[in-house]
Amino acid sequence: MARIVILTGAGVSAESGIRTFRDANGLWENHDITDVATPEGFEADPALVNEFYNQRRRQLCSNEVRPNAAHEALARLQRELPGQVLIVTQNIDDLHERAGATDVIHMHGELLNQWCLACGERTRTRDDIVDHTSCPACGERGRLRPDVVWFGEVPYEMDRIVNELESCTLFAAIGTSGEVYPAAAFVQYAVAVGAHTVELNLDASRAFSYFHEVRRGLASVEVPKWVDEVLAGC
Ligand code: APR
Repeated sequence: MARIVILTGAGVSAESGIRTFRDANGLWENHDITDVATPEGFEADPALVNEFYNQRRRQLCSNEVRPNAAHEALARLQRELPGQVLIVTQNIDDLHERAGATDVIHMHGELLNQWCLACGERTRTRDDIVDHTSCPACGERGRLRPDVVWFGEVPYEMDRIVNELESCTLFAAIGTSGEVYPAAAFVQYAVAVGAHTVELNLDASRAFSYFHEVRRGLASVEVPKWVDEVLAGC
């Protein structure tokens, strides 16, 4: 069981050039959530939804996007405290892994995974998903969707996440607005078991009042400082 559980959100990838959702010019300012982030939206217009994620996958796979100092500091924390640090991310990018993180749960899925609705298999892709793309596992065409958890769908690995929260001694939420459940409630699980809780965020999240400690600022500045302190205290 990890002693330290870290929840990350879009704010940890913002300085890598990936848009957040609810900041000014965020993704939800230019797209209707119901059109591009619900099963009903996909049912109504799979090509529109796939293209929304194709654009984000192309950016992620371009050389304009790379891990920032926050991703690198969290990977360092995992390296220095083997087996004691779990990263639960709401992000669908692979920047934690590209920074060297090893134990990462993508509770909202992954942009680089596709999910075949014909055979149920999930396979990796760095390419666009279009209507004639065939599933590498079963060969079916036109049945692929992004392996991303949409509103109204169940986040991945919730049993493991709750188990880890219920046994952690330190919980940190980094770069998340606390607007979306169940992630926004994770701090309450940690408080209930007596863990120390810290929020590292540019602005006060909706859940900030549950945290013992809040640190305001850019993730690329605050997270490396915080990691240094955690390691110094070990
Ligand atoms: N450093 C630290 N925090 C930042 C930075 C930064 N450079 N830039 C933005 N933030 C903070 C903002 O203040 C905001 O509170 O990151 C947070 C981003 O909030 P959201 O855009 O709501 O992203 P997130 O919390 O990850 O959204 C949760 O909502 O739409 C769904 O599935 C989607 O996973 C996403 C979920």
